[in-house]
Amino acid sequence: MGQDKIQVINLTKKFGDLLVLNNISFNVKKGEFICVVGPTGCGKTTFLNLLTRLIPPTAGELLIDGEPADPRKHNISFAFQEPSAMPWLNVRQNLEYGMKIRKIPKAEQEIRIQRIMTLLGLSEFEKNYPHELSVSAEQRVIIGRAFSTYPDLLLMDEPYGQMDIKMRFYLEDQVLKLWKEFGSTVIFITHNVEEAVYLAERILVLTNKPATIKEDVRIELPRPRDVTSPEFIQIRKHITDAIKWW
Ligand SMILES: Nc1ncnc2c1ncn2[C@@H]1O[C@H](COP(=O)(O)OP(=O)(O)O)[C@@H](O)[C@H]1O
Ligand SMILES: [Mg+2]
Repeated sequence: MGQDKIQVINLTKKFGDLLVLNNISFNVKKGEFICVVGPTGCGKTTFLNLLTRLIPPTAGELLIDGEPADPRKHNISFAFQEPSAMPWLNVRQNLEYGMKIRKIPKAEQEIRIQRIMTLLGLSEFEKNYPHELSVSAEQRVIIGRAFSTYPDLLLMDEPYGQMDIKMRFYLEDQVLKLWKEFGSTVIFITHNVEEAVYLAERILVLTNKPATIKEDVRIELPRPRDVTSPEFIQIRKHITDAIKWW
């Protein structure tokens, strides 16, 4: 087995008296694609906020590469719920943004921009601004931007929750393509079970709040996955049953 990218050790989070995460422990391997599913309000976003040190844990530890998680030290990227291509920047500038902050040399930036625009079919929109793009193209800019720093950890928080199913499948394929190409470790939060089974190498199912890990399921289905195959449907049903708390 590869080495651990993330170690979550007895992690607990309370907001005042509200216990949200209750003594959670798990590890994520380097390069793994993990989906976290669980009912709305169970603490998924809270977990990501802990991982990026936006908020402190009440108890327990979060380690990245064996050290306390630190966004200044670790190369972490995000793609969150709200569409967030920066409207005042064109496609090229959106892709450059994170690389500039990280002071990646100009020549290297250029190589990555070309690579990402080609992979995501964005080359023809290089000079366009987000409001001139289709929703799909804007989402591809957001994914491309997240991958442009070659993050070793990419956190995605229900990025496609609002999309129609066709667009969702299309964008999921784009994420998988970049994940394979760049070998990033991905933690993808979703409440959509089909999406999780389509994407993940491993699914963590959280219980209702206070959240604990109810199941840790490895998904061995070959890719590209067929959502209509009996094997897929069986796993989807298993996860759906696990997630039910009512
Ligand atoms: N900053 C905060 N202060 C108080 N309560 C919070 C805060 N952030 C989240 N919560 C509560 O923690 C619980 C989990 O929220 P969240 O992590 O956003 O759930 P999820 O992302 O799984 O839908 C919810 O009950 C929410 O109201
Ligand atoms: Mg959330």
